[in-house]
Amino acid sequence: MKSPQFFQIHHDNADKVRLELIHGLTANAAPGGAEISPKFLYDALGSRLFEAITELPEYYPTRTEAAIFRAHGPAMAQQMPRGADFIDLGAGNCAKAASLFATLAPARYIAVDISVDFLRAGLESLQRQYPDMDLVGVGLDFSQSLDLPPQLGEPNAGPRVCFYPGSSIGNFTPAQAQVFLRQVRSACGAAPGSGLLIGVDLLKDAAELQAAYDDALGVTAAFNRNLVPNVNRLIGSDMRLGDWTHYAHFNSDASRIEMHLVAQRDLTVQWPGGSRSFGQGERIHTENSYKWTVPGFSDLLCSAGFGKPQVWTDAASPEDGRFAVLWAPST
Ligand code: AVJ
Repeated sequence: MKSPQFFQIHHDNADKVRLELIHGLTANAAPGGAEISPKFLYDALGSRLFEAITELPEYYPTRTEAAIFRAHGPAMAQQMPRGADFIDLGAGNCAKAASLFATLAPARYIAVDISVDFLRAGLESLQRQYPDMDLVGVGLDFSQSLDLPPQLGEPNAGPRVCFYPGSSIGNFTPAQAQVFLRQVRSACGAAPGSGLLIGVDLLKDAAELQAAYDDALGVTAAFNRNLVPNVNRLIGSDMRLGDWTHYAHFNSDASRIEMHLVAQRDLTVQWPGGSRSFGQGERIHTENSYKWTVPGFSDLLCSAGFGKPQVWTDAASPEDGRFAVLWAPST
């Protein structure tokens, strides 16, 4: 049996994290005001809360995407190369990718996530199921830049399938998404058959979007408010959970759901070396989740260098879909 190979490209060190958080908390300038990057939502508890969100009746994206893969997996596989390098961006427990192994039969599976530690258990257990597959875990914050280790070889050496499910692309502004997708396009290479399989949440009725990000049980509120103890831990601040409430709203001009934390009274947040005052009602912007149309996202893919994509949705006609999975060929 083979054994997985691991690379940790870089760790965000504690100083860099502290500077980034303090910079965001002290930002005053319009239009943004104070902000905390959504990547800080995913500490150990936050990751579990997100998993709970995916089970909520109001949060349709995860189960809708899974249904699209179930219904159209074989049709997708027909468009995609067999025996490819399968590069999974944000692999986590590797479960979504593994469900495609039977049809795609990748030669090598390269799981990328922010920390290689998230990948160990998943890859060890996959190796037992697929003893002959080359498995690689790469710890890399690819939201900064997608620099795969050179040991993985030339992008053009053979077919590569990049995989970015779950509508994580929604956290990027359209301009950031274009930059990111260009990097994915380079990582995919240009060998015949290569391309990107990506899941995208679609624009829909504002009330349905709003409910998905402000559920009746309050799990999304807990997910957002969990930033308070997490930030305290990371920068030594004194935010109080009771002072901050969850606010989610659909910004139709920007076509995005925004999450914020709202100060419930006039207060000052202090940390070693600094502080920031907030008035009652003042907000900290904690996440954007962009909603795309199929034509809009197809244009974005083309502007990033991909060919015209194939599209699968949960509806008979793509414009009625709630979620889309797209296969965009590299050339
Ligand atoms: C993991 C970024 C796809 O935007 O729907 C869920 C995160 N935030 N509920 C999303 C999230 C609030 C999620 N993504």
